[in-house]
Amino acid sequence: MTLLEIRNLSKHFASGGRNVAALTDIFLTLEPGETLGLAGASGSGKSTLARILMRLLPADRGSIRFRGEDWLALSGAGLRRRRAGMQMVFQDVLGAFNPRATVASVLDDPLRIHGVVPKAERRGEVAALLDRVGLPTSYADRSIREISGGQRQRIAIARAIATRPSLIVLDEAVSALDVSIRGKILELLVELQRERGIAYLFVSHDLAVLRAVSHRIAVMDAGQLVEAGTARQMIENPQSPTARALIAAVPRLMTGPPQGHKHEF
Ligand SMILES: Nc1ncnc2c1ncn2[C@@H]1O[C@H](COP(=O)(O)OP(=O)(O)OP(=O)(O)O)[C@@H](O)[C@H]1O
Ligand SMILES: [Mg+2]
Repeated sequence: MTLLEIRNLSKHFASGGRNVAALTDIFLTLEPGETLGLAGASGSGKSTLARILMRLLPADRGSIRFRGEDWLALSGAGLRRRRAGMQMVFQDVLGAFNPRATVASVLDDPLRIHGVVPKAERRGEVAALLDRVGLPTSYADRSIREISGGQRQRIAIARAIATRPSLIVLDEAVSALDVSIRGKILELLVELQRERGIAYLFVSHDLAVLRAVSHRIAVMDAGQLVEAGTARQMIENPQSPTARALIAAVPRLMTGPPQGHKHEF
């Protein structure tokens, strides 16, 4: 069964006399275990789409089916329960969590809220999550602001997988990281996907990042979906001027030999 099906999704913002069509009639689907890269210049509507998916923002019209259910019709306890299935990783982890919170509490919250494991097993589960994302279990007692940006991003990933989701939305999740750390985080994400069959909606303006992780790539421009195809098709044979411009912005994509395999960091 298709995991996620977005149809006719539209959203506008009216502010200060300006009317912005942030999303216009977006259609997208995502299969279980698949990574869909979402590319597009700044302001093209990527984060708006991510926020509507996460139910942080209402849509004007359109529908979203997630795991066969009408996702936008859910509310209250029904929505809370199903939120475990769709998690998000932001670029700015410090802004998303209380910086004074300990790593342990950031990871324990979703376990408690969603009742992922019995109370007596939560400490052990926190340790297992830390271990899975490559951090020492002693980090549990540190505060979020006492760890590096790359480590914080690992915590955000650990928190996202804590509820055993079938979809994780990543909005510029590696954009602020140094290139070397970025590669390691991308490797971790790909490993987790293979291991757990998680699907990713991977938002990034960086096509080099998207090529490394995406099975398919969709390109947005001014709120419209202008192109979608396999990652390879899109990068080797772009059809839209928008995609061509994004590719031209990453010179190392065009040099180098054709890629024989998908994941290369
Ligand atoms: N809360 C808001 N109020 C008014 N306009 C908004 C709001 N949020 C987004 N917009 C506008 O909607 C459009 C799409 O914004 P969005 O943040 O989705 O773009 P983006 O593709 O994520 O860009 P970036 O790559 O810079 O993150 C932009 O024109 C933006 O200014
Ligand atoms: Mg954005």
